[in-house]
Amino acid sequence: MKRVLFVCLGNICRSPTAEGVFRKQVEEKGLGGKIEVDSAGTGAWHVGSPPDPRAQAEARRRGIDLSGLRARQVRVDDFKRFDLVLAMDRENLEDLRAICPAEYQHKVRLFTSFGPPGSPEEVPDPYYGGPDGFRKVFDLIESCGRGLLAYLCRNGEMGE
Ligand code: 4NP
Repeated sequence: MKRVLFVCLGNICRSPTAEGVFRKQVEEKGLGGKIEVDSAGTGAWHVGSPPDPRAQAEARRRGIDLSGLRARQVRVDDFKRFDLVLAMDRENLEDLRAICPAEYQHKVRLFTSFGPPGSPEEVPDPYYGGPDGFRKVFDLIESCGRGLLAYLCRNGEMGE
């Protein structure tokens, strides 16, 4: 079993989208029993809330239901439990590194590091923008998710 945690600031826009998209990609490959997916936020403002309606709408348009997800904050024991803790942007990365025990620092990475060459360096925060931002975020998450799945399979960690 491999465990992947997606992390953004609020856990209502980017990381729940990544959780839903990547879970679908994993299931489409028949790896649902081998890869566990979760998401969390570095901040606590939205704890207990469902994903932002705009993120839900974009996901629904692409056949993914995010309505059952609820925001939570990252906990220090997440760094032990998960194999990869993937930050959406540099600020998330720095915040995670600041609370991650030294022995687990290698698990903390930028999600976009799994994207195809030429990918943007960050998944931009769409919260204060329009619907176009949510569309772009979704597309970027999809392409980085495909790269992440290929990485996990390539490393022979999935029993293939
Ligand atoms: P997220 O987006 O980090 O992708 O969930 C945000 C959600 C809420 C806020 C900022 C970003 N906020 O400032 O409340």
